[in-house]
Amino acid sequence: MKIALIYDETTPGGEGSWVEAEYESPESIEALLNAIGRHCDRVVPVPFGQDMADVLRQQKPDLAFNIAEGREGPSRESLAPAVLDLLQIPYTASDGVTLGVSLNKAMTKRLARDADIPTPEFRLFYSAEQAAAEAEMLRYPLIVKPNYGGSSVGVGPESIVHEPGTLAEHVACCLCRYQQPCLAERYVEGDDVTVGLLGNGEVEVLPVGRVVASSGMYSEMTKKFHDREVICPYRAGRELEERLRAWSLALYRTIGARDLARVDYVLDREGKAWLLEINPLPGLSPFYGVYPVLAEAAGYDHAALMGRIIDLALRRSAAKEKATHERLGARTAQQYPHR
Ligand SMILES: Nc1ncnc2c1ncn2[C@@H]1O[C@H](COP(=O)(O)OP(=O)(O)O)[C@@H](O)[C@H]1O
Ligand SMILES: [Mg+2]
Repeated sequence: MKIALIYDETTPGGEGSWVEAEYESPESIEALLNAIGRHCDRVVPVPFGQDMADVLRQQKPDLAFNIAEGREGPSRESLAPAVLDLLQIPYTASDGVTLGVSLNKAMTKRLARDADIPTPEFRLFYSAEQAAAEAEMLRYPLIVKPNYGGSSVGVGPESIVHEPGTLAEHVACCLCRYQQPCLAERYVEGDDVTVGLLGNGEVEVLPVGRVVASSGMYSEMTKKFHDREVICPYRAGRELEERLRAWSLALYRTIGARDLARVDYVLDREGKAWLLEINPLPGLSPFYGVYPVLAEAAGYDHAALMGRIIDLALRRSAAKEKATHERLGARTAQQYPHR
């Protein structure tokens, strides 16, 4: 069996966009290739980009292990899955629709609300004028962040807005820097907790983790320098842990996630959890990834986790193939009943 790792290549000379903060380090890519190599006969690295389809056509992998974040815009994570679907190559993790919806934080929050999962109130701003007009109607403090962000890009103590007078200025700055709608969300003072999910059908919920940033905020700088600790299992109390499990599973299913995802919450000072987002393409670096720490607490070392993800994707594609054959077989039997 041959597996292609679809990954992101950083622009040489550090000229790339802010999205590159999401890319795995070269050492992590190397480690992922080694780990995947333990579960197949051959593993080939395929960088995300315009040549990807040609390379894949030539390489003909049996499976793609997709970790590509893409380059820009709201569909950046959806492009690799779309190409793989077009070439009919099975791949790990979610399809382009799920990745596109979950990259859109406002859309995810609307789906969460619909599923009765608590998420901080928010407004989506397209212009500073709109923010100025609505500023007095909102509850403060708020956090202003790019709606299609990631890796805490644009998040830091400076993105917290304490009073209506400065909202428009924050929004103008966010719009200009990230060239996308800007989410103003009620700022919940508290702790970052995260829940990993693994599987399809009977989905496994990994032990709850808590991320403790040295600076006190899980900001862009904290993520850049991995300046934090992950406590897992984090004992949040039976009732809350049960709720986190149920909400995470509900969102995983609502959004159509496959194989794996990580759901992020803030736990406020009263012990209430608020959903921030779902990450169906969570970082898998054995050196600094949060998801592998959650998996480890459930008994999967890094190689076993990679093996499990590969296995889940292969089972999905085999099940799909079997269903197609059965459907075609049934149709043939109907058309030619005497054969
Ligand atoms: N509404 C909020 N209240 C409190 N902290 C927040 C809020 N939104 C974001 N944060 C902080 O910023 C981090 C990154 O925000 P998040 O919405 O998860 O975006 P990203 O996709 O960049 O991870 C969170 O893990 C949390 O620490
Ligand atoms: Mg997050």
